[in-house]
Amino acid sequence: MNRRQIINNPLTGNKAEAFEAADDCPANPQPGRTIGDVIAARYGRRTVLKGMLGTSAAAALFGSAALTGPQQAAAASSVQSRFKFDEPAWGNDETHHVAAGYDADILLRWGDPITADAPEFDVRNQSAAAQLQQFGYNNDYVGYLPLNTDGTRGLMCVNHEYTNEEMMFPGLGRQDKADFSGMTRELVDIEMAAHGGSVVEVARNPNGKWAVMGDSKLNRRISPLNTVMAIDGPAAGHPRMQTSADPTGREVMGTLNNCAGGMTPWGTWLMAEENFHGYFWTGQLDAGGEPDLSGQPEAAQMARYNVPAMWYAWGKYHNRFNIDKEPNEVNRFGWVVEVDPLNPNSVPVKHTALGRFAHEGAETTLSADGRLVIYMGDDARFEYLYKYVSNRTVSQDRTVNTRLLSDGMLYAARFDPDGTLHWLPLVHGHGPLTAENGFSSQADVLIDARLAADALGATPMDRPEDVSPRGDGTAFVMLTNNSRRKPGQTDAANPRPGSDFGHIIEIKEEGSDHAATRGSWSILVQCGDPAIAEVGAQWNPETSDNGWFGSPDNCAIDAQGRLWVATDQGRKWNKTGKSDGLYGLETEGGLRGHSKLFFRCPVGAELCGPCFTPDNETLFLAVQHPGTDGTKNLKGFERESTFEDPATRWPDFDPAMPPRPSVVVVTKTGGGKIAV
Ligand code: FEO
Ligand code: CA
Repeated sequence: MNRRQIINNPLTGNKAEAFEAADDCPANPQPGRTIGDVIAARYGRRTVLKGMLGTSAAAALFGSAALTGPQQAAAASSVQSRFKFDEPAWGNDETHHVAAGYDADILLRWGDPITADAPEFDVRNQSAAAQLQQFGYNNDYVGYLPLNTDGTRGLMCVNHEYTNEEMMFPGLGRQDKADFSGMTRELVDIEMAAHGGSVVEVARNPNGKWAVMGDSKLNRRISPLNTVMAIDGPAAGHPRMQTSADPTGREVMGTLNNCAGGMTPWGTWLMAEENFHGYFWTGQLDAGGEPDLSGQPEAAQMARYNVPAMWYAWGKYHNRFNIDKEPNEVNRFGWVVEVDPLNPNSVPVKHTALGRFAHEGAETTLSADGRLVIYMGDDARFEYLYKYVSNRTVSQDRTVNTRLLSDGMLYAARFDPDGTLHWLPLVHGHGPLTAENGFSSQADVLIDARLAADALGATPMDRPEDVSPRGDGTAFVMLTNNSRRKPGQTDAANPRPGSDFGHIIEIKEEGSDHAATRGSWSILVQCGDPAIAEVGAQWNPETSDNGWFGSPDNCAIDAQGRLWVATDQGRKWNKTGKSDGLYGLETEGGLRGHSKLFFRCPVGAELCGPCFTPDNETLFLAVQHPGTDGTKNLKGFERESTFEDPATRWPDFDPAMPPRPSVVVVTKTGGGKIAV
């Protein structure tokens, strides 16, 4: 399907769904590449496809403490879950639900004033100037930087990933279907102001409730409209990074589509730029109305990144987003941005050493010798998992640490069928990464990281989303789904064709060292309904009907070392009937692969964050695009949501207000650690 067919497909009920569906057209030209038939050779494809692995094969695939099998249920049931709470019932309705004994309060909503002089939100008279002082749209990543020793006061760092025009603006409707004819310069600038990020000081009152410190001098909005950023690392200053506005190739206006992220050990905030291709525009269209790249010198590189995808009209009013006028601007997006939240005047930095791709997140940890390690997914079908390792160790001196993201090694992952993981270095001049193959410098290797990883033979994955590393050399990789993987393209690490529900891989680095260049891997769970054999789900058999989920996306490790998984099923939630939510997932022992539902979203929302305070007494959750995804499948509603007629008006339930993306704060009623 081409872009226009996707836009007009009745199954895609809003622009965000259409954008998501467009990414269903993989840009990787060799998706089935290396180990396609291994699983069949090892275990017999038919049994795998039927989701009925034998015990020995399951143990080999899923690790020694494997799930599956009624024979293990008895042993498992005598083991206590480490997640101490009673599950709420699964379902899908207008509001959010949390486990009994917990409070889930709204902390910050789209439009809430976050600076001392910010105007009150007026949804029918919004302006870019007002939005630049108010909490942005579609909150995604949430980080927390404590400002006092007991962690009851701190800075919340929140990404604002994207905007939904039909839910934000009165009377506008879906603009991708209308060639963006309703998008004025003013509306585009409001969209830009609603993107980026927010730094907001928050504090826990003696009564245990959290509040926003609206007059904090540290509160800050970051946007693609007005936040100047520096570019550093090996690609900074390269001719491919230069534009007419910035002949130096070292300075760029803003950041966009910031999905997940991370916090560094020295308290800076990493914002991952994900689907940047959607913001670029062209007037050069072929007879079918699709972008025609034939006049572009970098047509092959652009095609590998699905540029320009034209999901926003920004290029109509801002030349830099029009590749006909500024073909290099697109090379200045798709990076990881570092922000110092402690200094509201600091200039954020785009770190090119971490590579350019659709960065889902950038969770950090330390190697055995104290270097910084960052795990990063490239969230698109058949894309790769990456890891960055700094050359120097983390210091007590913050100024030394600012250089750690400029000087280090980027790797892409190869998952071998014998359970070995290889980290392949993206280094110019090594192996195939030479001028003869189109890489004339390290800048080329990093700007075209996807092409470099192709050349190295990295393993094309089922949409690598967030990755949570744990201090013991373990990391958990969320692979959200991949409906485009065909039966002949499965491999040991991506074993299901047409995977609607995704899976989670556990990595164990050699020597428990996150800087290791090899390790082992196993599948922790295969998601979806375990009662339907064709789905091929694999959960610990003790998992309840409430506990299994589809499409793992964001994740976190809490202070107890436990894994929490947030889901984003998109419009496919009707395939499970469940709203998105947060689940506690056991990774060890007899209950390995056991999942419990803790929180679920209002209809149409995905769940982002999640972020625990260091004392494990508070959990921040970001509820993104409430009322938006798949509302045609909500019984009793059965139509596309709009500003005027949404499936829910969460969280205000005010007839004059559309639904608002919001951060929710979860605490135990009466206080105490969560799920303990
Ligand atoms: Fe922005 Fe991959 O979710
Ligand atoms: Ca995400």
